[in-house]
Amino acid sequence: MRKKIIAGNWKMHKTPAEALQLVNELKVKTVNIEKVDMVVCPPYLAILTVRAVLKETPIRVGAQNLFWENEGAYTGEISAPMLVDAGCTYVIIGHSERRQYFHETDETINRKIKKALEFRLKPIFCIGETLEQREAGQTFTVLKTQLDGGLQDIDASAMQNIIIAYEPVWAIGTGRNATPEQAQEAHQFIRSSLAEKFGRPIADELRIQYGGSVKPENVEALLSQPDVDGALVGGASLKADSFAKIIEAAEHLSKH
Ligand code: 13P
Repeated sequence: MRKKIIAGNWKMHKTPAEALQLVNELKVKTVNIEKVDMVVCPPYLAILTVRAVLKETPIRVGAQNLFWENEGAYTGEISAPMLVDAGCTYVIIGHSERRQYFHETDETINRKIKKALEFRLKPIFCIGETLEQREAGQTFTVLKTQLDGGLQDIDASAMQNIIIAYEPVWAIGTGRNATPEQAQEAHQFIRSSLAEKFGRPIADELRIQYGGSVKPENVEALLSQPDVDGALVGGASLKADSFAKIIEAAEHLSKH
């Protein structure tokens, strides 16, 4: 059984003071959670504060990006060893907003995934098609290209440390989530592509999160799909109440 994993991607929200308040509330609301992996990904500046509050809890901290060199003259960038030192366990890589606004490519994403793995950070590797691509019937081709590019030269043995997040671009921040059937169809395709690449046993262990307008109201239907192993949550992770409700739904489903 794959353990469900719920991660909050805060994007460019929350000052360190606001972050402190949010995780203090979240910590209290999640004391009874046992069967779900929980992650929050604050902006870099809030990571240390958040980690200090969550240190004695099962909630892990992730970053939203990293650079592929360990150190050097790369103004404005943050490296894997810095994230490890700050207490991060996970790092989101290849989010569609980074592909769109910061020109990340499958090749740079691949370099980042390799660097994260080298430092034992668990990549949450994001893939997903745009509306235009979906309407042109290109969804599977796009997913396959992103998977092949992002995971190039990655050993099968490293796959146990990678989480895939399927985030259809048209569902992000739009309030229009993929239907459970659409999510399942994409997740099943992703899992079979990875089975071809790395073998069935590895693909069967791998966790695939869905992301895109996940809310307390729709999470149960999405997580009930056989290949949906968690959620990467944007907007609804910015309030302790809604994020805790999403985690509780995952916990509830894991008990049956
Ligand atoms: P929303 O949940 O706000 O749609 O964002 C999803 C997302 O991009 C998470 O990485």
